[in-house]
Amino acid sequence: MANLATQFFGLELKSPVIAASCSMTGDLEQIKKLAKAGAGAIVLKSLYEEEIDTQLQEELSQRKALEPDPEYLDYFDYIIKDENLKDYTGLIRQAKQAVEVPIVASVSCISQSDWVLFSKKLEEAGVDALELNLFLLPANLEKSGEANEQFYFNTVKKVLEVVSIPVTIKISHYFSNLAAMIKALSETGIAGISLFNRFYSPDIDIQNEKMISADVLSHASDYLLPLRWTGILSSQTSCPLAATGGIHSAETAIKFLLAGASAVQVASVLYNGGTEAIAGMNQEIATWMDAKGYDKIDDFKGKLAIRDKHVALYERAQFMKYFTQKDF
Ligand SMILES: Cc1cc2nc3c(=O)[nH]c(=O)nc-3n(C[C@H](O)[C@H](O)[C@H](O)COP(=O)(O)O)c2cc1C
Repeated sequence: MANLATQFFGLELKSPVIAASCSMTGDLEQIKKLAKAGAGAIVLKSLYEEEIDTQLQEELSQRKALEPDPEYLDYFDYIIKDENLKDYTGLIRQAKQAVEVPIVASVSCISQSDWVLFSKKLEEAGVDALELNLFLLPANLEKSGEANEQFYFNTVKKVLEVVSIPVTIKISHYFSNLAAMIKALSETGIAGISLFNRFYSPDIDIQNEKMISADVLSHASDYLLPLRWTGILSSQTSCPLAATGGIHSAETAIKFLLAGASAVQVASVLYNGGTEAIAGMNQEIATWMDAKGYDKIDDFKGKLAIRDKHVALYERAQFMKYFTQKDF
C-alpha cells in the first residue's frame, strides 16, 4: 500500500491529514480518537491570551484592593498566568502520554511578553512543535500596512529566540502583498506556514435586523482560496506549506498535495463526520496513489504547482474568457 508519510511542523508525520486546532482537540478523549483514526499530527485548541486575561483581570482587581504596590502586582500577573497555563500544559502532558502521534500546541497572544512566556511554558510541557495562531484584523485606519506586518515578524523572532522546538505559523490572507509577505515569513527560520486560518465572521439577519454569527463550519467549496495560494507559493517559499479551509474530502486533500502542500489541516469535516473522517481520507488517498502508481507523497507533491505552464491558470483572476460564451 502507498506510503502516506510526509514532513510538516519540522517533524516526520505518518499521514498528511492533520487534525487542526479546534474545540475537539482540547479534549483528551477526542485526541485519542483522532490518533486512532490516523491523524498525521494533532494541533491542540489554541491557548488564547484574552481568555487568560479575563480571569487575570478579575483576580488582579481583587488583589489591588488589598495590595497597591505595582511590583507586587506584576509578580501576581506572572503567577496567575502561570496558574492558568496549567490546564493547557496538563493537557499536553496527558496527550503525550496517551498517544504517539505528534502533539502541536497552538498559541494566540496579543502582547509580545505573553507570546514568549506561553511558548516557553508549552515547550517545557513537552509539546513536539508550536503553531502560532497569528491574526491581526487590519481594520485600524490609523495603522500602516508596514506596522501590521511588523507584528508578524516581531512575534516570530521573539518566539524563535526562546524555544528550540519547531515553530510554524497559521495566518490569514489579509495582507496587501500576500505572496511577498508569505515568502518573507518563510525565510525567518520557521518550520512551516498554514494557509489560511478560519475566523469567526459576522453576518446579518435581515428579518430581525441584527448581527449574527456566520457559519462556524466551513463549506466544501471554501478550499479554492487556499488552493490558489498554495499552488502559487509552494515552489517559492523557504519552508513547507500546509493548507487549511474547506478540505472536506480525500479528493480535495489530494488537490492540495498536487499543488505543493506538504499536509492539510482539517476541522469542519471532524464535526460533520466524526474523527473517523480522517481514517476515510487516509484510505482514499492511499487508494488513489495505488491506482496512479505513486509509492510515496513526494512522487506527486507539487506536480501541479505554479511552475512552468500553470502560471496563467493560477494567476488568472477575471472571467473575461467566459463573457464571450453564450451560456454565461
Ligand atoms: C469549532 C472550531 C474551533 C476552532 N478553533 C480554533 C483555534 O482554537 N485555533 C485555531 O488556530 N484555529 C481554530 N479553528 C480553525 C481550524 O483550525 C481550521 O483552520 C479552520 O476551521 C479551517 O479548516 P476547516 O475548513 O477544515 O474547518 C477552529 C475551527 C472550528 C470549526
